[in-house]
Amino acid sequence: MPIEPSVPNRLTLDSSASGGSGTEKTSQIQFSVEPSTEEHHVDIVDIRDSQQPLDLASDIRSGLQNQNEHGHRSLPSLLLWNERGLKLFEEVTYVPEYYLTNTEIELLKAHSLELADRIEPGTILLELGSGNLRKVRILLEAIEKLGKQVDYYALDLDRAELERTLGQLVDAGRFQHVRCHGLHGTYDDGQRWIALPENAGRPRCLLSLGSTLGSYSPPEAAAFLKKWADTLRAGDDSNSNATGTGTSSRIILGLDGCQDGERVFAAYNDPAGIHKKFILNALDNANAHLLGLGSGYQEFDARDWTVRGEWDAQGKRHVQYLVPLVNADIILPPHETDDPPVAVAVKANEKVQVASSYKFDEEDKARMSKESWLGVAREYLSPDGSYGVFLEHLTNCTSKYSTDARI
Ligand SMILES: C[S@@+](CC[C@H](N)C(=O)[O-])C[C@H]1O[C@@H](n2cnc3c(N)ncnc32)[C@H](O)[C@@H]1O
Repeated sequence: MPIEPSVPNRLTLDSSASGGSGTEKTSQIQFSVEPSTEEHHVDIVDIRDSQQPLDLASDIRSGLQNQNEHGHRSLPSLLLWNERGLKLFEEVTYVPEYYLTNTEIELLKAHSLELADRIEPGTILLELGSGNLRKVRILLEAIEKLGKQVDYYALDLDRAELERTLGQLVDAGRFQHVRCHGLHGTYDDGQRWIALPENAGRPRCLLSLGSTLGSYSPPEAAAFLKKWADTLRAGDDSNSNATGTGTSSRIILGLDGCQDGERVFAAYNDPAGIHKKFILNALDNANAHLLGLGSGYQEFDARDWTVRGEWDAQGKRHVQYLVPLVNADIILPPHETDDPPVAVAVKANEKVQVASSYKFDEEDKARMSKESWLGVAREYLSPDGSYGVFLEHLTNCTSKYSTDARI
């Protein structure tokens, strides 16, 4: 990604501004604050949209009945992220071949103080897809060290896992200045939440670690970032107009660009089979999602399926497929109770796509910056240059050499 002209790196110790969680009161949309458990002392805000609950059953049905743009049936990748899936993914992060986690940990250890220095006191630090919190802890400890009052919000899909992981994070009173909260919901829910007036009026920093953005193709990732950047920019602008001072939001991204097919393949196809378990779990979760529509639903038997990983060099992505070992005749419950059930025949060895991990090269990253009007203020690269943690700021123009130095 292009780098903006360098700004002197100055470490400040500033504990003067206070945060205020700002989550319990809402003006337009009411979010309920679910009580923290005694054991963990964390508050989890339920920001799920009750009007539009996640409907994975529909996605399962249409994904199995139709071919995607790559000519495969598919299952929604969101099926990976139930409580068990999140626990299995935590195991994945300890797999030696899964270089993404260790590389990012090294980068954060080396540069977290510099990143923390650029986070204003009073900031809402919102992590999109927080997972097991192993890495963000490094940044939060750096913010704590600088004595900055910051509200950290871990956004993820499973409440029990938010409780567990946040409970471990705040355990032993590690943080005096950093306040840790959970947001239970999807990215879309998080976007509505961050735009609420009490949140939009504060400095905000988004965090996306672990190359989570890589589950999107480059154009999808650019569109996703643009939506978030536009939301942040609208808040910054209205705040700036109202007070004349303004805030300037930041985005911190961890992105993998490794194009070494063997290395990537090894990362997602570990000999111990942790990834395989993680991917197969999507089938059990599919049963659970379809269960809501038909009782005793057990059409997917994970014992009859295997997992196939493939490096697609042209597409710059690793793809995970679920593959039935024998012909799978699946009966899907209907959308409406009056409709007949839908029969889908997946042949033995047919690949059903469930996850993609795109590896963004320079061109992709430049495109993402340009299309979402982001400027790279700092980039921290792994020794081979393929993995990066990027601190981005919002610009008012699409020039990659923006001189907007609000950072
Ligand atoms: C690849 S994991 C990364 C976890 C963690 N950030 C890390 O670096 O290890 C992706 C995370 O994003 C979450 N996630 C995926 N899609 C999501 C969505 N639409 N809304 C909220 N969270 C989502 C998953 O539950 C998971 O925790």
